[in-house]
Amino acid sequence: MNVRILKDEKAVARAVAARVIATLADRPAAVLGLPTGRTPIQLYAHLRAAYASGRVDFSKATTFNLDEFLGLAPDHPASYRAFMETHLFAHVNLSRRRIHFLNGVTSDPAAECVRYEKAIARAGGIDLQILGIGGNGHIGFNEPASGLLSDSHPARLEPGTRRSNADLFGGRVEAVPREALSMGVGTILRSKAVILVATGAGKADAIKATVQGLVTTRVPASLLQLHGAVEVVVDEAAAAGLVGR
Ligand code: F6R
Repeated sequence: MNVRILKDEKAVARAVAARVIATLADRPAAVLGLPTGRTPIQLYAHLRAAYASGRVDFSKATTFNLDEFLGLAPDHPASYRAFMETHLFAHVNLSRRRIHFLNGVTSDPAAECVRYEKAIARAGGIDLQILGIGGNGHIGFNEPASGLLSDSHPARLEPGTRRSNADLFGGRVEAVPREALSMGVGTILRSKAVILVATGAGKADAIKATVQGLVTTRVPASLLQLHGAVEVVVDEAAAAGLVGR
């Protein structure tokens, strides 16, 4: 994997924003895969600023978000859809009909996941998938396990994952849903290019295992080693465990 180590969170956000801007300049109708979470907040701030100053145009772009909590409607303030509205969608010229999300209030989760896979395929696949990483090595909501489901699927969240999402629910871990819908590792690996973003010391072990460890479903992000076009963009703190960097 191609690893880029930058000074801090700010430099990481700037570099990843530059990649998104360049992708859209080169291919205005690009299909982007997007994460939520703390890591991309500054990235989305850069993209909003770039749009406001006329440096990027989203009008022909398509987006697919990685995941959504099961049981939360798109307008629920703690939903990932609401997060995306706040940090990006409400501020840029993405066409509403080209914004795609897994529906957290579907009555048929399995069918909803099939619909999502079909929608991604119909859009021509994901050109650039941006990922965060959990401290446990998860990508999307693909948690460490003895096996992983390849396609989009309903997923059970680990206690640590629910804790790290508690902020969205006013700090109340018990309010964080136990289940979510997520793109699968296969969905992610079918993307043409992937950027894995990590900042802070809390991600150092996961980054070491992802980049220099064995390929194992116990560290879902390590499966990215099988993809030929992955760039890992990290700050010094998240890179601290890498040997020979
Ligand atoms: C969110 C997602 C998750 C996060 C990961 C890191 O859409 O897919 O895999 O990327 O949990 O979260 P943060 O950035 O909050 O540390």
